[in-house]
Amino acid sequence: MSDKNHLTKPYNNILVSEVENKGALMTGLIQLNRPDVLNALNIDLMIEVVEALESFDKDPEIGCMVLTGNKKAFAAGADIKEMAEAGAIEMLLRDQFARWDRIRKIKKPVIAAVSGFALGGGCELAMSCDMIVASESARFGQPEINLGVTPGAGGTQRLTKAIGKARAMEMILTGKMMGAAEMFEAGLVTKVVDTDLYLDEALELSREICTKPTVAVQIAKESILKSFDLTIESGLEFERKNFYLLFATEDKSEGMKAFVEKRKAQWKGK
Ligand code: HXC
Repeated sequence: MSDKNHLTKPYNNILVSEVENKGALMTGLIQLNRPDVLNALNIDLMIEVVEALESFDKDPEIGCMVLTGNKKAFAAGADIKEMAEAGAIEMLLRDQFARWDRIRKIKKPVIAAVSGFALGGGCELAMSCDMIVASESARFGQPEINLGVTPGAGGTQRLTKAIGKARAMEMILTGKMMGAAEMFEAGLVTKVVDTDLYLDEALELSREICTKPTVAVQIAKESILKSFDLTIESGLEFERKNFYLLFATEDKSEGMKAFVEKRKAQWKGK
C-alpha cells in the first residue's frame, strides 16, 4: 500500500497532484499557492512544501517531483511581514531554516519550474531543487541587501557555486534581478522556454526521468550532490562505491542484458 499523505492532507498554501506518465512512474506536482502575495514563503507554506516533498519521496509510484508557482511569480521571497517584527533570538528559536535542510535529504529528483519572480527565499528554494526549468520571463535575484540583511537559506553558498563568485557578488551585493537567459548562460538554469510552456517542459523533463531505473536515478543525484561537499579524491571514491552498488540491482542486469539482446529494457525499480 503506498503512502498518499500528499493527496489526503488539507493543504492551505500549496496545491498538490500526481501527473500520469504513460507506462512510467508518476510525477508529483507541487504548486505554491499564495498568488495575492506573489507566493511569499511564510512558515506554514514551507511546512507544507517540505511535508509534500517528503510524502512524494516515500511514495513508490512517484519517480520525480516538480515544484512550481504561477506565471507571475515562483516566489518573491520569504514573507517579509512575518519577519518584520522578529528579533535575532526569536529567529534563532524559530529555526525555520532547519526545515529547508530536509529538502536536501529528498532522494528523488526535484525540478523547479520557474516563471516570473524568484527572489530571495524564492531563488533559494529554486536552487534547493536539482534542476531549474525557467520561462523567458523568469527573474532571479537575492534582494535581501535592500532589507538590511543577506540571504539566509543558501543564497550565498548555492548561487556562488552555481554561477561563480563574480556574478554572485554582483547579484547579492546589489540585489539586482537577472533574467532567465543570463542565468541560463551563467549555469543556474537547465533550460529556458516560452512562458506558456515552462510547466509542460518541466513535466516533460520529469517524465523522461520517470522512465529511468529508479535506484540509479537516486544514486546519481546523491553522487552529484556529494561533489559539493567532498574533495575530488573522496568524491571519486564515493562515486565508485555507488557504481559498484548498482551492480546489485536487477535493473543493472536487465539494462545490460537488454543492450546485448538489442531490445528495450524493462525496469523493475530495484
Ligand atoms: C510579503 C510580499 C512579498 C514578500 C511581495 N509581497 N513580495 N509580501 N513578503 N516577500 C506582496 C506585496 O506586499 C503586495 O501585497 C503583493 O505581494 C504584490 O506585490 P507588489 O509589490 O505590489 O508587486 P509588484 O509591484 O509587481 O512588485 C513585485 C516585487 C516586489 C518587485 C517582487 O513585490 C518586491 O520587491 N517584493 C519583495 C522581494 C524581496 O525583497 N524578497 C526577499 C525577501 S527576504 P499587497 O497586500 O500590498 O497587495 C528573503 C529572505 C530569505 O527572502 C531567507 C530565507 C527564506
